[in-house]
Amino acid sequence: MDKPVRAGDAPIRVDLEKGKDYYWCACGKSSNQPFCDGSHKVEGTFKPLKFSVEEDANKALCTCKGTKNPPYCDGTHRK
Ligand code: FES
Repeated sequence: MDKPVRAGDAPIRVDLEKGKDYYWCACGKSSNQPFCDGSHKVEGTFKPLKFSVEEDANKALCTCKGTKNPPYCDGTHRK
């Protein structure tokens, strides 16, 4: 598997808490989109992206896995 699986056709908005670590699914196989559930371990090509926010925020996280600004949606799903 050299490309991630398209997990969705639109971003998912989530409430993120300041200082907390999150793991965005980069492979697209997680059943808990947009977050990693460990499914990437089967193929081993992808690893989740660890990220956090500096302030509490509601953000749109990418599910098409084509964003150039992971974990955030950049509108690529529309192309
Ligand atoms: S399940 Fe996709 S990166 Fe972990």
